Amino acid sequence: MAKDLPPLSLYIHIPWCVQKCPYCDFNSHALKGEVPHQEYVEHLLKDLDDSLHLVQGRKLSTIFIGGGTPSLLSSQAMQQLMDGVRERIPLSTGCEVTMEANPGTVEAERFSGYQQAGINRISIGVQSFDAEKLTRLGRIHGPQEAERAAQLATGLGLRSFNLDLMHGLPDQSIEQALDDLRQAIALNPPHLSWYQLTIEPNTLFASRPPKLPDDDDLWDIFEQGDQLLRDAGYEQYETSAYAKPGYRCEHNLNYWRFGDYLGIGCGAHGKITLADGKIMRTVKTRHPKGFMRGEYLDRQFMVADEDKAFEFFMNRFRLLEPCPRQDFVDLTGLAEQRVRPALDNAIQAGYLQETAEHWQITAKGKLFLNSLLEAFLPETE
Ligand SMILES: C[S@@+](CC[C@H](N)C(=O)[O-])C[C@H]1O[C@@H](n2cnc3c(N)ncnc32)[C@H](O)[C@@H]1O
Ligand code: SF4
Repeated sequence: MAKDLPPLSLYIHIPWCVQKCPYCDFNSHALKGEVPHQEYVEHLLKDLDDSLHLVQGRKLSTIFIGGGTPSLLSSQAMQQLMDGVRERIPLSTGCEVTMEANPGTVEAERFSGYQQAGINRISIGVQSFDAEKLTRLGRIHGPQEAERAAQLATGLGLRSFNLDLMHGLPDQSIEQALDDLRQAIALNPPHLSWYQLTIEPNTLFASRPPKLPDDDDLWDIFEQGDQLLRDAGYEQYETSAYAKPGYRCEHNLNYWRFGDYLGIGCGAHGKITLADGKIMRTVKTRHPKGFMRGEYLDRQFMVADEDKAFEFFMNRFRLLEPCPRQDFVDLTGLAEQRVRPALDNAIQAGYLQETAEHWQITAKGKLFLNSLLEAFLPETE
C-alpha cells in the first residue's frame, strides 16, 4: 500500500520567540518566562501518537522543525524530541532533518548538541547584515552574530545549511540590498532563501507601514541579485529558493511537489493521502495554551475534488522544474481531462509549454502566476 502513496514528511512547530518581529505573521508568540522545554516535547510526541495511523507504513523522507524559534529549545529537549520521533516512525536512509535557528539564540555547544540529536541541516534567519536594518526589523541579533552562526554551521560539517535573507527592506537602496547578498554569498551557504519583504495583515508593519523601495528598484534588486547568485554558482529552483547543485531543500520540495506531510505542534498543518485516494488536511490548535491542555487537533477535512487542481498547481508552479503530467493524475486522483480547458488557455496565453511528458511554466507564466493559477479555481469553466 505504501508504494502508491506520496513520500511522507514531518513538520514540527515551535511557537515561541524572544520577541515578535514587526513584519512576521507566523504563529509565534513573544516568550513570557522560560520555554516549557520538556512539557512541550511531551505534548508534541502525544500529538504525534494521535497521528500515527496516517503514516500508513511509510518512512519519513524529511523532517523540518520550524517556528517561531526552534533554537530556543535546549539540546536535551531536541534530543528527547528526535528520539521520540525515531521510536515512533522509521526515518528513511539519508533523511534530511532541518531546524530553524535565530542567530541571536545560537550558542556553539547547543549547535553540536542539536547535531548529536540528529539535526543535519540548519536554517539561519539572518535577514540582513546591516545593523540599522536589523534594528528596524526588530531583530535581536547584530550582523556579527549572524556571521558567527554561519561559521559555526560551516564548522560542524552538517549535510547543508541555509541562510534566510530578506530584501526590499524599509528605506533600502539597491546597493544596500546587493551588499547584503554579497555578504551572505561570502559565507558560502549551500542554500540561500532570498525573500522579498511583504507586508502581512495583522502585523505591526501593516498598521504602521514603513517606506519600502518602489517597484522599479525592487525589479533592479531582483535582476542584479539573481545575477550575483548565478555567478556564485547558485541555481534558483523556486521563487525565493537558491541552492548549489545537490543542496535543494528536500522538505520544501516535497511540499511543492504535492507530497504528504504530518504537522505536529501549535498551528501545524498536515496533508495526507488516504488509502482510497482522498486527500485530508489537518490543522492543529494554534495557541500554546490550548495545545498544552492536550487539545491538539483544531480541525480536519477532506479536500473537495473541485479544489484539488488549484492546490496541486499552486504548489507545483512555484517550482521552476518541469512538472510530470503523470504526477497530476497520481497525486490528485483526477483525470487530466478535467483541467484540459484551463491548460489549453494557459498554453495559448504563453504561460505554459506542454510536451508529451511535462508541463513547463514559462517566464511569462512566472510573471503572471496569479492569472495562470486563477484558471484552476473551482468557479472557472
Ligand atoms: C518562520 S521564519 C523562521 C526563522 C526564525 N524564526 C528567524 O526569524 O530567524 C522564516 C523566514 O521567513 C522570512 N519571512 C518572515 N516574514 C516575512 C515577510 N513578511 N516577508 C518576507 N519574508 C518573511 C524570514 O526570512 C524568516 O527567516
Ligand atoms: S524570530 Fe522569526 S518567527 Fe519569530 S517573530 Fe521574528 S521572524 Fe517571526
